[in-house]
Amino acid sequence: EKGEYPHYMLKEIYEQPHAVQDTLDGRISPQNDEVIFKELEKYREYLSGVNKVFIVACGTSWHAGLVAEYLLERYARLSVEVDYAAEFRYRYPVLDNKTLVLTISQSGETADTIAAIGEAQSLGAKVLSIVNVPSSTIARNSNMVIYTYAGREIGVASTKAFTTQLVVLSLLTVYLGLLRRNLPADQAAVMLQDLKRVPNEISKIFTEVDNIKRIARAFHKHSNALYLGRGVGFPIALEGALKLKEISYIHAEGYSAAEMKHGPIALIDENMPTVVLAFKGRRYEKILGNIMEVKARKGKLIAVASASNDDITRVADEVIRIPDATESISAILAVVPLQILAYYIAVEKGCSVDQPRNLAKSVTVE
Ligand code: M6R
Repeated sequence: EKGEYPHYMLKEIYEQPHAVQDTLDGRISPQNDEVIFKELEKYREYLSGVNKVFIVACGTSWHAGLVAEYLLERYARLSVEVDYAAEFRYRYPVLDNKTLVLTISQSGETADTIAAIGEAQSLGAKVLSIVNVPSSTIARNSNMVIYTYAGREIGVASTKAFTTQLVVLSLLTVYLGLLRRNLPADQAAVMLQDLKRVPNEISKIFTEVDNIKRIARAFHKHSNALYLGRGVGFPIALEGALKLKEISYIHAEGYSAAEMKHGPIALIDENMPTVVLAFKGRRYEKILGNIMEVKARKGKLIAVASASNDDITRVADEVIRIPDATESISAILAVVPLQILAYYIAVEKGCSVDQPRNLAKSVTVE
């Protein structure tokens, strides 16, 4: 039931602290020295011998996979490739019994992802799936399953499923990093402590809702938008753009901010607003440089920035704040304001938020 909320999507956005908490519960040891995934117990040996991870998913779940690529590479030192399930199933992927195929799906019923699992297993790889719906086809067909506990997601635009996927992928990164001895114990402990704080940090973002509503009113008449990010911010930019397209029918594209000068910057003028993920991290200075280029072309800038990034106000026209956090955690936090922004723009335009035109909640046909 929607209860006090006008749409399921808004309800599901607000459920994120709870959904993330449920997904974390029981999975981090009290001393923060271990990730508890009983569901992987039988496969520990396989997982310690894996030399490649192939992540396969569609839509928003594919964006979660792109974030995981950065995390697994950086902290577990695993070689990672990410593809759309529909592409993967028809290419000639190089897989063997040292490859882990990782699929990600909210519904567990996406036809292309189901087919990709069959393809991967026939080539000798084991499949680990991150799934939200219990006993779904993907859960049944996979060798290993880790559930996200987002609860039922009804809005067609995925919100809480995505943030809980990112949390499971972060836990999996620490799990594999420790298992493979590529992640020092003290660093793992800090990462796990940080993850425990995510539900509370997401709650703090809701204080920005009035600010975001005002921005939505100011920008809803545009027919195009760009979303830019770097590193883990890049897939978050893709996800922000997808949210806007899906529910408000505004054409939006996500790019790595560094790619702007290779073409897309030609689009920038006063009618092309740009949403930029400018949270703290290794690439913050670079991002500032990239957005100065947008500014110089008179593009309007909306920045999602960390609380203590004071210098951002000098370049951005609008700033939406997220709590200070590490780069990986910031990626999880930063998607929340983008969901809220897409939501209020769609509401402003009078769109059918929970059931956008031409879309179904799960794509069970090829
Ligand atoms: O159920 P799945 O996670 O496998 O679904 C994948 C996509 O169809 C899904 O994420 C879609 O892109 C959403 N509508 C995004 O909001």
